[in-house]
Amino acid sequence: MKFSHDFLFGAASASYQVEGAWDEDGKGMTNWDEFSKIPGKTFEGTNGDVAVDHYHRYKEDVALMAEMGLESYRFSISWARIFPNGDGEINPKGIEFYNNLIDECLKYGIVPFITLYHWDLPLTLEKAGGWLNPRTLDAFVNYAKTCFEAFGDRVKHFITFNETIVFCALGYMAGAHPPGITNDPKKYFQAVHNVFYAHAQAVVLYKSMNLFGEIGISNVFAPAFGVDNSEDSHKAAYHANAYATHLYFDPILKGEYPAYVMDALQKSGFHPEQTADELAIIKQAASLNDFMGLNYYQPSRVELIKGELAQREITRENSTGAPGNPSFDGVFRTVKMDDKRYTKWDWEISPQGFIDGLKMLRERYGHVKLYITENGLGDEDPIVESEICDVPRIKYIEEHLQAVKQAIAEGVNVKGYFAWSVIDLLSWLNGYKKQYGFIYVDHKNNYERKKKMSFHWYRSVIESRGEHL
Ligand code: NOJ
Repeated sequence: MKFSHDFLFGAASASYQVEGAWDEDGKGMTNWDEFSKIPGKTFEGTNGDVAVDHYHRYKEDVALMAEMGLESYRFSISWARIFPNGDGEINPKGIEFYNNLIDECLKYGIVPFITLYHWDLPLTLEKAGGWLNPRTLDAFVNYAKTCFEAFGDRVKHFITFNETIVFCALGYMAGAHPPGITNDPKKYFQAVHNVFYAHAQAVVLYKSMNLFGEIGISNVFAPAFGVDNSEDSHKAAYHANAYATHLYFDPILKGEYPAYVMDALQKSGFHPEQTADELAIIKQAASLNDFMGLNYYQPSRVELIKGELAQREITRENSTGAPGNPSFDGVFRTVKMDDKRYTKWDWEISPQGFIDGLKMLRERYGHVKLYITENGLGDEDPIVESEICDVPRIKYIEEHLQAVKQAIAEGVNVKGYFAWSVIDLLSWLNGYKKQYGFIYVDHKNNYERKKKMSFHWYRSVIESRGEHL
């Protein structure tokens, strides 16, 4: 089977992770510009001041993407380039940069797929309370409108938010992302609701502008499976899916929050404040939302916690996706299993989990249109005689594309696949050590780009539309 011609083969990045030029051409400071410089927060104090200098080298990078045969480039806009303070005056240089980047993509027939929010919040808004302050929501909707007006003639695919669960959970529970708050479930669930209300307003607005494109959101997709077939493990998996999947997918696709979670939050006092108007807009947006973006790296394996709950202690190392943590309410914990394969960062490799998870989604949400907006392998790539031999990455992507193929054959509506990432970039907490790209960046040699083995391999996959996978 070949992937159909309306299936997009792409690759992705995010502004803070690639652009650099953190204080150039009128850009305002972001939460990450500040947070990454707090000692101990990131691996060896790495930050995105220069990142991989994509801001200055975007032409060279887009030319490489074209050479790779990429059909679509998913990238994010840095809000603070457009609005240095989050709201207020527009910075024309910011609009100009993204116009240039979009036009450069279009020159080669590469479809720009834009994320509006990939975690870099203008610092002024963070200081004023971030996602807990209604000002941020209003500012986001205004920023989104500005982007729709400026780019919507050429950009037909918009993602409002990237991985709400990650920036809210790591921001308000683990303290590993800005604003660095720990163990505050009340704030965490409030931020999640506020983000979904902002998403909903942006969707309604976009559709009212008749730009004839599509809009959706990208969520983490980490389907939970019990460690065995016991009743306890089934309970644990249901609970985990309710909090990590239903809570994040239901409001977007069904326009309502899952009662299982909301009832528990009422009892515990962590229920977010929500007005009837907000809930009505969330409901309306669900009927207009065009797609769900899935960032799939791994499933989670869970077991029920019985008896005394171990003290929850989150550090930079264990807040980055590795198993071992109890859930915030002490109901289950994630487990590393002896019979599974793992990456160097202890992320499970499971194409089967992907297929099973996609089927779970089909059962709950029907024929919704899906894009895989991220999938890839974080690794330290060996260099042999100056060739970057990222064979494990080829294997990982191949297995996951096979999984997508199988899911499509079984009736799941997947319309595109974006490998993470197009180029080696800054991992938020792991510096440049954890590589994901098809293109290597030589930080010791003026950021020179080099094609990896996977670059050539992905080109041949796209060329043959995945026929030989
Ligand atoms: C998800 C995030 O969207 C991206 O920014 C990050 O680098 C990758 N996962 C890998 O952890």
